[in-house]
Amino acid sequence: MQAILEQLEAKRELARQGGGEKRIAAQHKKGKLTARERLEILLDEGTFEEWDMFVEHRCVDFGMQDQKIPGDGVVTGYGMINGRLVFVFSQDFTVFGGALSEAHAEKICKVMDQAMKVGAPVIGLNDSGGARIQEGVASLGGYADVFQRNVMASGVIPQISMIMGPSAGGAVYSPAMTDFIFMVKDSSYMFVTGPEVVKTVTHEEVTAEELGGAITHTTKSGVADLAFENDVEALLMLRRLYNYLPLNNREKAPVRKSGDPLDRMDASLDTLVPENANKAYDMKELIVKTVDDGDFFELQPEYAKNILIGFARMDGQTVGIVANQPLVLAGCLDIKSSIKAARFVRFCDAFNIPVITFVDVPGFMPGTSQEYGGIIKHGAKLLYAYAECTVPKITVITRKAYGGAYDVMASKHLRGDVNFAWPNAEIAVMGAKGAVEIIFREDKGDPAKLAAKEAEYKARFANPFVAGARGFIDDVILPHETRKRICRSLVMLKDKKLENPWRKHGNIPL
Ligand code: COA
Repeated sequence: MQAILEQLEAKRELARQGGGEKRIAAQHKKGKLTARERLEILLDEGTFEEWDMFVEHRCVDFGMQDQKIPGDGVVTGYGMINGRLVFVFSQDFTVFGGALSEAHAEKICKVMDQAMKVGAPVIGLNDSGGARIQEGVASLGGYADVFQRNVMASGVIPQISMIMGPSAGGAVYSPAMTDFIFMVKDSSYMFVTGPEVVKTVTHEEVTAEELGGAITHTTKSGVADLAFENDVEALLMLRRLYNYLPLNNREKAPVRKSGDPLDRMDASLDTLVPENANKAYDMKELIVKTVDDGDFFELQPEYAKNILIGFARMDGQTVGIVANQPLVLAGCLDIKSSIKAARFVRFCDAFNIPVITFVDVPGFMPGTSQEYGGIIKHGAKLLYAYAECTVPKITVITRKAYGGAYDVMASKHLRGDVNFAWPNAEIAVMGAKGAVEIIFREDKGDPAKLAAKEAEYKARFANPFVAGARGFIDDVILPHETRKRICRSLVMLKDKKLENPWRKHGNIPL
């Protein structure tokens, strides 16, 4: 017995050492933690239950039969984040560069399968040189097995990817199918083909950081949601994000009451919107002043900044916030912002998180680059997402709600449950000036007449009452009472039930 115990401990120790001291030191030198150190930060202390520590690869080519490290480059299992179950895999770059072998993939698949059975999220900490080159197609098969599970788990359990090192080639597509991607600045990158291949094919000279670093993916491509300074910050923020999420699609997100009263008024909101309708203001101020404790977990803050998305709590309940940002491009909808918000709305819908929409939108962005880029199709994504969404939907129009964008932004017509407008809201086909220039085109040379018509149009339509008269908005509310009115609406909507017709799946314009 003693001998077996010693053997067990020796094997465990070997697994814990991963690629050995030298490679661990190299990992630290790059400012990166090891796979196990990362899990220690991510999970509640002492909760990690490791699986498959003794798994080894089965490759016998290129001398691999003599190079076996227990665990085979990925640490898997489950644990707790703030007392809530989570399944994890953490790739160990010190073991064969974290490269994915058939056995490595099987370990990941095992935790994903178990997570699906018990209904708990999967978090992947990615740090890998890609497919295990010595294994060839067996490794590619392993990737595809993971991809298939990513797709089956989509909308059933939350899946989160943290990129903490290389993620190249096929390796990018598992994270790409998860719900959120976080990256660490300067030490992580994601690309389909690396700088060398790019140079050969397109003759572009680009560094790995420029091509697929954290800044690139959170500002240019929108592939990643957030970029962090280092491993520790990234993992601690991941714990924060986790607190907002339900464990699966049949549960509700945990309620975390704060001391923030649900009827708290904020008089400063009454002067948030400038008198001049063409002047911008910061929509984030409204969000921060409305949600519990001013705590807004913003996603993709540096990408498509004309729309804001993120999680917050209202009276302790997780909500998803979508808001036009008048500070950027006057808050209009364009291709990037439509896609950004659409995916977020669909996440909230899949996981029972009410959506609160703050609207100040002058319309869709005009121009050839938008039209050629397919704004029709991409704008339709947001429309589709809101329309199919069955979770509670609360909308507050703070100022402009013009044209088709009015319809899109969680309007009453798209089954908005509660639609409020502030007193200065303008719900119309377009702004008064543009409208008059079209309707009274023949008076182009008569500025006085046009001004009079503009004033008339404004008086007629630049208010919330025309929509109110039709019941398109439920009430005109005072800005300072916004929090109270939303919180009350959420209480009313707590047990909302709405089902879409049975179908295999819809055909969202992709
Ligand atoms: N398969 C097998 N082993 C791999 C590997 C892979 N895909 N990627 C890295 N490794 C191994 C290296 O051989 C090295 O082993 P060693 O410690 O025994 O010397 C170790 O992992 C670390 O790699 P190294 O190249 O020294 O690290 P780096 O930080 O300088 O570079 C990469 C990292 C990912 C840029 C580089 O390893 C690389 O280009 N890997 C291949 C990527 C690829 O083409 N993957 C297949 C397509 S998906």
